[in-house]
Amino acid sequence: MSLQPLSTRSQAAGVVSPSQLKVTVHSCAAKKQRGEKITCLTAYDASFARLLDESGIDLLLVGDSFAMTAQGYASTLPITVEEMLWATRAVSRVTRRALVIGDLPYGSYQLSPRQAVKTGIRFIKEGGAEAVKLEGGRRRAAAVRALVEAEIPVMGHIGLTPQSLHAMGGYKVQGRSPEQAKQLLDDAAVLVEAGIFALVLEGIPAELAAEITRSVPVPTIGIGAGPQCDGQVLVLHDLLGLTPEPRPKFVRAYADLGAQVRHAAELFRHDVEGGSFPSQDESYHLGRTQASAAKQ
Ligand code: KIV
Repeated sequence: MSLQPLSTRSQAAGVVSPSQLKVTVHSCAAKKQRGEKITCLTAYDASFARLLDESGIDLLLVGDSFAMTAQGYASTLPITVEEMLWATRAVSRVTRRALVIGDLPYGSYQLSPRQAVKTGIRFIKEGGAEAVKLEGGRRRAAAVRALVEAEIPVMGHIGLTPQSLHAMGGYKVQGRSPEQAKQLLDDAAVLVEAGIFALVLEGIPAELAAEITRSVPVPTIGIGAGPQCDGQVLVLHDLLGLTPEPRPKFVRAYADLGAQVRHAAELFRHDVEGGSFPSQDESYHLGRTQASAAKQ
């Protein structure tokens, strides 16, 4: 079933159930207030975005993890704005219900708030995103403020921020010491004050994530941050079992598509090499008159 664009009239008349309503930054806030969990998955292309949207996932994050899952890079650092816009367009074209969030890639917002706004505007106008995400704590407050001034909803992202790979000295759980934990609590408060509508907490102890979640009015979306966040996000390729093992401990693979894809490709190779694919039924044929004309 493909979802049709939602009519505001039917929404207002209450003839569609809440699970069918278009997700907005405001409905995310309302979910936190009601104590309902928010679901978020990454999406990078139209075919998966359509399926995830039809599954009722609230937020589709066009994450810069695209660099690692689909482009084969070892980190998220090399991906460009143009490449992220390509993926964001593909996702936003087919998404009807979920909120589409574009991830600002490394180097596209760190230079100045003006640079952040210029990039953010491209994600909205050219990518069709409804919000953007950027990584970092207090150092990003001015950029967040400038984006919000430009009417662009911003999702923050603190803790293990993959774009800080070299500064962190590797992908390491953050916030284990009392000093680091305090810094992250302060970062969360500063970002909220700057105007974020939601906050990704990645790779931090569950106890700290719970404390941050209690301390901020905006929804927290956890990845490797324990069960007490207001929502959870996973990288789609991890969830589907498409990424090679070993996977991080916070990943739950809900399918083993990697094995299924390999198996399907092996069957195809077997049939082509053995001459059983395509069959006569799977081929187009000339009509009787065309066939006799072709013989002459
Ligand atoms: O790029 C990404 O996929 C992300 C999520 C892991 C939060 O930033």
